[in-house]
Amino acid sequence: MSNDRSVHVDLADRGYDILIGSGVLSKLEAVLNPMHSKGARRAFVLVDSGVPDRFADQITTITQSLGIKSTLATITPTESIKSIQTYQSLLVHIASTGHSRVDPVIALGGGIVGDLAGFVASSYRRGVPVIQCPTTLLSMVDASVGGKTGFNLRITNPDGSEDLLKNLVGAFWQPQCVIADIDTLDSLDPRQRRSGLSECIKHGFISAGVGQEGLLDWMIQHLDAISSFEPATMAELAERNVALKASVVALDEREDTSKLGGRMLLNFGHTFGHAIETLDNLSPDPSNPSLAPLHHGEAVALGMVAACRAAEHASGLDPEIGNEMISILKHAGLPVQVGGLPSNQDLVERMSHDKKATANTIRVVIPTSRGKCIVVEDAPVESLEAGFDAIRA
Ligand code: GLY
Repeated sequence: MSNDRSVHVDLADRGYDILIGSGVLSKLEAVLNPMHSKGARRAFVLVDSGVPDRFADQITTITQSLGIKSTLATITPTESIKSIQTYQSLLVHIASTGHSRVDPVIALGGGIVGDLAGFVASSYRRGVPVIQCPTTLLSMVDASVGGKTGFNLRITNPDGSEDLLKNLVGAFWQPQCVIADIDTLDSLDPRQRRSGLSECIKHGFISAGVGQEGLLDWMIQHLDAISSFEPATMAELAERNVALKASVVALDEREDTSKLGGRMLLNFGHTFGHAIETLDNLSPDPSNPSLAPLHHGEAVALGMVAACRAAEHASGLDPEIGNEMISILKHAGLPVQVGGLPSNQDLVERMSHDKKATANTIRVVIPTSRGKCIVVEDAPVESLEAGFDAIRA
């Protein structure tokens, strides 16, 4: 495979390329050029405060060279900032620049920045172009590809308690292009990097069922290089994972809920994971509570273990699948158990708040064999509880 990699998301007139490699942010110029020809004169750039300045500076230099005036807005990404208030202030900001319908929004950051920028782009003036420049492994292999955008909503329950419902409001809005510059990964702390590996491991465990046989074994063969973030391996890891995500999205762009398959399979680990991700007392290291709350990838790792164990209880899944999952997650430095979980009843209730739940059922993705998963709507509550028991430290 060459140094610069590209994967096409085949969505007819909404199709686009994902460019992957070291230094590929420079290709933004070629992406913006045709937009400039169609009249783009401004760009609104939403930047993650954790991304080194040189990447935002590079975007400014490229836009200036084309005669496009860029406005930068910076946010520090947290789940609570992914809110309707931030969305509103971004809309007010972009409107104040005189941004037109042909001017692009550019997201430079992880999934929170990409989701917010994408939703602003989907709704401002009924839709303007968005270019996703993901800077975390998680957003490169998952969040930036496939057009999911949105924000979290905080609700007050009848008993007065509050819940943060993740990604409850949003839209599908495909980007014009995704530019995944592997150099941006150097700025991530080790915990963020490991969190991204969780989505790659998820892809491995659904790969055979979506025509991407071999991904799980390739990752296992390269696990040392992956766990130590060896740059050439990271580019190949990103390309292989993006290819999986692109193929799933191409067949099921809008997550058709009648299919019980397709894009929904990408939610493996997520329904269990979302139930624990927004509990702010949970730490990925039981001996270090100050690491709370869980990062998304850590919650997904725990959620995948819970899903394997739930499937053993519900449908007799071979326990070796869960054991292999645990061994890979541990090798990658991800948690497989967590202390401080609330009661199973609370956790199952929190699962039913997940947006994958339908009126009366909780939809979960569970493995059926190595590399294959299915979506079920009728998992017995006892099996969901057995899943949570398995991750309780
Ligand atoms: N992250 C799951 C999806 O994009 O469908």
